[in-house]
Amino acid sequence: MNLDFSQIVPYIPFILKGIGATLQFVSVSIIIGLFLGIILALFKIMKKPILRWFADAYTSIFRGTPLILQLWIIYFAVPQLSGYDISAFLSAVLAFGLNSAAYVSEIIRAGILAVDKGQTEAAEALGVPYKSMMANIILPQAIKNILPALMNEFITLTKESALVATIGYLDLMRRAQIVGADLYRNFEPLLIAGVIYWVMVFVLTKIGRMLERRLRKSD
Ligand code: ARG
Repeated sequence: MNLDFSQIVPYIPFILKGIGATLQFVSVSIIIGLFLGIILALFKIMKKPILRWFADAYTSIFRGTPLILQLWIIYFAVPQLSGYDISAFLSAVLAFGLNSAAYVSEIIRAGILAVDKGQTEAAEALGVPYKSMMANIILPQAIKNILPALMNEFITLTKESALVATIGYLDLMRRAQIVGADLYRNFEPLLIAGVIYWVMVFVLTKIGRMLERRLRKSD
């Protein structure tokens, strides 16, 4: 057994800084994914075939190719076409946000379809306009039912965020890798990173449960 945590102590602040970097781009990605996902989900249930086709094609592409490939295309390949460099942060946020939207749109579509048809019929009978029916009647009920699935998506995103280490973004994973290379000892920094990821997911899970309870109370 060759474990020695004393050498890593001076590096701990460096690794901890990665938490902020990771949380920052994951939260922006979640917001983008949620926003685009809702729009795509609405496209999918609309009567306009062109919008449905677009949303389905979008999901097919972003769910049908590896996230790391999408990230690398945005970071390494697009600058070749445009001549402009793109920052690691912006690439990461775009890749994760666009990718997550594909998954979120399916979750929300399922949630909308699961809301009882009577709700739509009642709203229509009362003359509620489509927009306010969606925003005030259907979506709030859908969100309640899909909260566990959405939390799952956020957890996936948090862990998959480690992929940005491959484009040099100084997130938790990349920092652990750098420390490992510096010390010629990988077990200790990776163990610390692993514990931190686990704690982040644990906290997310708790927040999800709390939200669920609160929404159920409002019934
Ligand atoms: N590892 C999978 C991929 O490369 C995960 C994609 C992200 N998943 C998600 N739910 N947003 O495609």
